[in-house]
Amino acid sequence: SKPPVTVAVTGAAGAICYSLLFRIAAGDMLGADQPVRLKLLEITPALQALEGVVMELDDCAFDLVESIDIGDDPNAIFDGANLALLVGARPRTKGMERGDLLEANGAIFTAQGKALNDHAADDIRVLVTGNPANTNALIAQRNAPDIPAERFNALTRLDHNRAIAQVANKAGVPVSAVTNMTIWGNHSATQYPDIFNAKVNGEPAFDAIGKDLEWVESYFLPTVQKRGAAIIEARGASSAASAANATLEHARDWLLGTPGGNWTSAAIPTTGAYGIEPGVISSFPVTEAGGEASIVEGLEINEFSRARIDASVAELREEAEAVKQLGLI
Ligand code: NAI
Repeated sequence: SKPPVTVAVTGAAGAICYSLLFRIAAGDMLGADQPVRLKLLEITPALQALEGVVMELDDCAFDLVESIDIGDDPNAIFDGANLALLVGARPRTKGMERGDLLEANGAIFTAQGKALNDHAADDIRVLVTGNPANTNALIAQRNAPDIPAERFNALTRLDHNRAIAQVANKAGVPVSAVTNMTIWGNHSATQYPDIFNAKVNGEPAFDAIGKDLEWVESYFLPTVQKRGAAIIEARGASSAASAANATLEHARDWLLGTPGGNWTSAAIPTTGAYGIEPGVISSFPVTEAGGEASIVEGLEINEFSRARIDASVAELREEAEAVKQLGLI
C-alpha cells in the first residue's frame, strides 16, 4: 500500500473538525487507497474534548488511519506534516474591535508559521480556514521564510460552492452543470463571485440566468457574500459541515488536481496577474495539479467585475497594512 500522508489539523475539537476529521479518515480527501497519519492541535483547555473526538475516530475503525497524535504544541504536531489544515482561530467576541481580532489571531499564526517553518516536511502545503483566513495565511507565510511562499493558501472554496448552488438554482439546472465559477478577493463580505466567466452546460452562465443583472447585483452577490451570517442566523451556529467539505475539496484539488476544462477558486499569493500586485493572499480562478496551483490567465474582466475585485483586494491590502503595523509580518 501507499506510504501514509501526515495531515496536521488545528482547531481539532471544534465544530468544523467534528465533520472534517471523519471525512479525511474515511478517504474523502486523499482517496480510498491513501493511508493517513493524523496530528491534531488544540489549545490546552480543549485537549480533553479532543480526546473524546479521538475516541470516536477510534470507534469508527477507519482502515486508512495509521495513527492519531494530539497535543497543544505546534512544534510537535507540525513535525513531519505534509499537509496542514489550519482551522482553529480566535473568534471575534463581544466588544472586540477588528484590531483586537487581528492581534489575537496574529499571535496564533505567527507561532504556527514558525513551527511549520522549523518542523514540517519539505513538501508541506498549508491551507488556512480559520478567519480572517486570507490575512492569517499571510501572517503564517511571512513567519515561515524557508517554505516556498506559494505553499500558503486560504479557503474561498466554500464561497465558490455557495455561488455554484445559487446559479444552479436560478438557472434551474443541477449543480453539476455549473462550471468555471470564480471567487475573487477576500473571504469576507467584499468577496466577488464572478458569474460572467462562469458557465452553465458549457455556455455563459449570465445567458443561462436570463441576463438578469438586477438579480446578480441585488440577490446573487449579497446572498453569497452574506451566506455565513445567514447560516448563523438560521442555525444559531456557524457553518461547519459545509466549511469542512470545502476545506477537504480545496486540499483534494490542490494535491490531486482540478478536473480538465474546469477550474476552482483558491486564495493564493498574488503574482501580478490581473493587475493585482504581490503582497496579499487573494482568491483567483486556479487550475491545480500535484500540489501546484496556477492562476487561469486571460479571462475578460468587465467594468462591473473590475470595480468589485479592486475593492476586495483593497480590503486585503488594508488588513495586511494593519498586521504590518502590529509587527506581525
Ligand atoms: P470552533 O470555535 O467550533 O472551533 C475552533 C477551535 O479552534 C476551538 O476548539 C478552539 O479551541 C481551537 N483553537 C483556537 N485557537 C487555537 C490554536 N491556537 N491552536 C489550535 N486550536 C485552536 O469554530 P469552527 O466553527 O470550527 O470554525 C473554525 C474557524 O473557521 C473560525 O475562525 C471560523 O470563522 C472559520 N470559518 C471559515 C470559513 C471559510 O470559508 N474560510 C467558513 C466557516 C468558518
